[in-house]
Amino acid sequence: MSRTIAVTGATGFIGAMLVDHLLAAGWNVRALVRPRSAHLVTETPGLEAVRGSLQDSESLYRLVQGAVAVVHCAGAVRGATAADFNAVNVHGLERLLQAVLSCSPRPRFLSLSSLAARAPELSHYASSKRQGEQALAAMAEDMEWVALRPPAVYGPGDKELLPLFQWMERGIAPVLGESHARVSLLYVEDLCAAVLSWLNAGSCRSGVYELNDTQTGGYSWDEIIAKVSVLRARRIIRLPLPALLLRSIAAMNVTTARVIGYAPMLTPGKVRELWHPDWVSDNTALTAAIGWQPVFPLEQGLRRTMGWGEPGPAA
Ligand SMILES: NC(=O)c1ccc[n+]([C@@H]2O[C@H](COP(=O)([O-])OP(=O)(O)OC[C@H]3O[C@@H](n4cnc5c(N)ncnc54)[C@H](OP(=O)(O)O)[C@@H]3O)[C@@H](O)[C@H]2O)c1
Repeated sequence: MSRTIAVTGATGFIGAMLVDHLLAAGWNVRALVRPRSAHLVTETPGLEAVRGSLQDSESLYRLVQGAVAVVHCAGAVRGATAADFNAVNVHGLERLLQAVLSCSPRPRFLSLSSLAARAPELSHYASSKRQGEQALAAMAEDMEWVALRPPAVYGPGDKELLPLFQWMERGIAPVLGESHARVSLLYVEDLCAAVLSWLNAGSCRSGVYELNDTQTGGYSWDEIIAKVSVLRARRIIRLPLPALLLRSIAAMNVTTARVIGYAPMLTPGKVRELWHPDWVSDNTALTAAIGWQPVFPLEQGLRRTMGWGEPGPAA
């Protein structure tokens, strides 16, 4: 049987870590790499790079031929308009699916969606992730598929949550959202382990699955800050950022993006996501389906992410 896994998004935060885990587990990886990101891929035994993109159907056919499974980690996480997100998260996924469905036998298919897909009304990003899931369900025919909905993922190489933890390390915690809001988190290596469990399970009921770390019920801002405070043995001052301020910056970002054509992270939709009160996810269905369970509590994930090291032996 083929040991080749086709991976998209291999040059991104999650995809790069996943490729390392797949290779370490003995899988061969065929990775889609955009020409502009080719320098990010080093020559490694078991790893084959396919130059192309989600806009280039021919490269997608080369990517998936003969693969036993496809793990789709490529995604647009920044952008100003619905078109910015849909071009990758909906139409790119549809193009990839067309390539996969042409294969015989058909590989299994895992797509990284997002917990944001649960509330598509909040942002162009969330809407594109929900539309991606719907396209997958509608097009899959008899192909086995899963869409994973991770909450906020953190780990080495992450650019979104890392700055927040770096501020906390300096003693200031910017609070981006309501104080009563709750969020689930997931350390990136637990997400990679979930993908490996799915591969090793051999089969899994097709559908959408949520996942999160060891903390059932998620965290409040105060709980996250308290954990960092204990880990760093320092006082951390909360700095709640007013929604109005962030909305103004977000509106400016969108205008600037229109003028100079860049993909902003902080947009009005992102502010609505940040102010959403409930981003708590639930592992139950995924654990029942493939047996995966997270093993990294926030403290341990943070130590590995921030290089804070393991605690020494008790004195
Ligand atoms: N990070 C999180 O907290 C989180 C949470 C939930 C879900 N997710 C989902 O997980 C996936 C990966 O997220 P991430 O944080 O790893 O994002 P990331 O670091 O921004 O990586 C995105 C990856 O997608 C690739 N990509 C983007 N557009 C492409 C296109 N048109 N054709 C081919 N490749 C393309 C990028 O390639 P280049 O290197 O060439 O740009 C990069 O490899 C996304 O679908 C995201 O929605 C992430």
